[in-house]
Amino acid sequence: MAEQGTGDTNEPHETIDALSAENRKFPPSEAFKANSLVTDTFLYDQAAEDDEAFWARQASGLVDWAKPWDTVLEWDLPDAKWFVGGQLNVAYNCLDRHVLGGNGDKIAIHWEGEPGDTRTITYQQLLDEVSQFANVLKDLGVQRGDRVNIYLPMVPEAAVAMLACARIGAAHSVVFGGFSAQSLSDRINDAEAKVLITADGGYRRGAVFPLKPAADEACADTPTIEHVVVVKRGGNDVEMVDGRDHWYHELIEGASTECPAEPMDSEQLLFLLYTSGTTGKPKGIMHTSGGYLTHVTYTHKYVFDLHADTDVFWCTADVGWITGHSYIVYGPLSNGATQVMYEGVPNHPGNDRMWEIIEKYGVTIFYTAPTAIRTFMKWGATEPAKHDLSSLRVLGTVGEPINPEAWMWYHEHIGGERCPIVDTWWQTETGGIMISPLPGATTTKPGSATFPLPGVSAELIDDEGHRVDVGGGYLTLTRPWPGMLRGIWGDPERFRETYWSRFEGRYFAGDGAKLDDEGYLWLLGRVDDVMNISGHRISTTEVESALVSHPAVAEAAVVGATDATTGQAIIAYVILRGGEDVDAEVLRNHVAEEIGAIAKPKQIYITPDLPKTRSGKIMRRLLRDVAEGRNIGDTTTLADASIVDELQARAAVVADD
Ligand code: PRX
Repeated sequence: MAEQGTGDTNEPHETIDALSAENRKFPPSEAFKANSLVTDTFLYDQAAEDDEAFWARQASGLVDWAKPWDTVLEWDLPDAKWFVGGQLNVAYNCLDRHVLGGNGDKIAIHWEGEPGDTRTITYQQLLDEVSQFANVLKDLGVQRGDRVNIYLPMVPEAAVAMLACARIGAAHSVVFGGFSAQSLSDRINDAEAKVLITADGGYRRGAVFPLKPAADEACADTPTIEHVVVVKRGGNDVEMVDGRDHWYHELIEGASTECPAEPMDSEQLLFLLYTSGTTGKPKGIMHTSGGYLTHVTYTHKYVFDLHADTDVFWCTADVGWITGHSYIVYGPLSNGATQVMYEGVPNHPGNDRMWEIIEKYGVTIFYTAPTAIRTFMKWGATEPAKHDLSSLRVLGTVGEPINPEAWMWYHEHIGGERCPIVDTWWQTETGGIMISPLPGATTTKPGSATFPLPGVSAELIDDEGHRVDVGGGYLTLTRPWPGMLRGIWGDPERFRETYWSRFEGRYFAGDGAKLDDEGYLWLLGRVDDVMNISGHRISTTEVESALVSHPAVAEAAVVGATDATTGQAIIAYVILRGGEDVDAEVLRNHVAEEIGAIAKPKQIYITPDLPKTRSGKIMRRLLRDVAEGRNIGDTTTLADASIVDELQARAAVVADD
């Protein structure tokens, strides 16, 4: 496998030079401010005075506790505990309290299937089904502290399963339905999950994609799985293993809707979510209950200026990612909001499906990814123009830096030039939004995530660890926050090493950023070996390992090259073993089998050699230059410079095709 370079990774300064100055400014309109939750600096002022007291106020104001906490924060770097001694039930906060408050008939989820079938689910109905499924899980032997894996399409049962786990104190580990059997079994085995919840299949691009066969393949290799629960959605034929596999609808049918929400400790593990790091093995990011729920409830309310009585919120993420956890399941439901959940792709049956859905449900807050916006741009402004989007009030983006052109297009063609845009920076590890405008208070600039939220302390620093006030640097977080990860499952050393060791006393997020002379933050992407493909994190090493696991491959180097639609695209350079001959397409499919279709390289170059330093390190920066068609300057540090010419010639041939 390719050796991991350290000195030749993306340096922030390099990226900073490429950023053009953006001077347009968009203050919130008076009309928006007139009805907005926050229009001035009072939250910032309160938080600046005493951040712990600030978070404690959010926790008591926004979350119901069965038992109050004794200590707001115990901080022993890198271990944080929030609201210590307090007890709560997360599912109670997302469901029961709204029903008890008289909102049982309020719609929690407008679910829209890709073929056009719909389900309308009230808070009462959601509570009943979650309670039933919690009882089912108990009957299957799931106990507090156990782990349950979820591998589902975007169906309401995904939210039900997550909340049922929360209700009984089992931790869920959701694996995105696009991941392969191999990825699923790796994650199940790492978490030692007892139960897997999956579906026969789901709808995507007008057809059923089967999930159960991948789940079966994964379970052939997962000794801890005792039961598999199968949601019927695709209607495709599946094999059910006697004694192990059960239909969801059959189990639910006989289950009671009575399942008391037992209080859990604030630091009870709520979920694991696996994400890519700079080494091959995905990390099980740990999130706990009280702090996480406080953070997502607070951010969902203030970042989106939520008016729970009237707003219709729509986050287009998949529940398999952190965005789906925090802003489909926990944030919106804890706030008692009404939301849209959509199963399929944005271009089925037509390129206007998203806009049709917004019009149909009167969506007021729309939260999506820059890569999606760039795709919508390609499809043209005539698509949104076919629909009445006047219900929209607030627009959001997440997952990657948004380029100013895409921001302006979103502003004009989706927001009708009246909706504030919140560009929200955060990570799987942060649990919730960290850097973002507040729509009624912040003057935005296209492409800038603006400022840390009240309660969040971020600083840019340079290579030596000195604070940067204007210019480029590494984004660090200087104080613990309630939604922060509590560790990496089973690997406390890796937790410390990955996030807390590069800069003394700080959490290092892996991103480079720039501060302009007005203090606005501009995120510039990862500075490590993590790629960002359509807002999804994939590590170069993971893809390299997948390539090298093919018997024909001797060595592989993978880089993320700038791509106009997906942000970055995966480009791989592969050296074959002597005497082997294999088509690049076979290798692309091999990666899809190993990791999932999202990790398929866009382009694979089969090459006799790779550019290496004299000490044998692969020069990734150089490979990126080649992939992005840049001129290569000085190659005198290379062991064999001729390989670069050859790779460049090949890239030019592909570009001409
Ligand atoms: O590089 C940053 C980018 O996405 C990374 C986190 O990825 P993940 O854990 O998968 O979570 C994505 C959804 C929260 C970050 O390290 N990123 C996320 N949001 C932004 C962003 N980059 C720039 N601007 C953003 N708004």
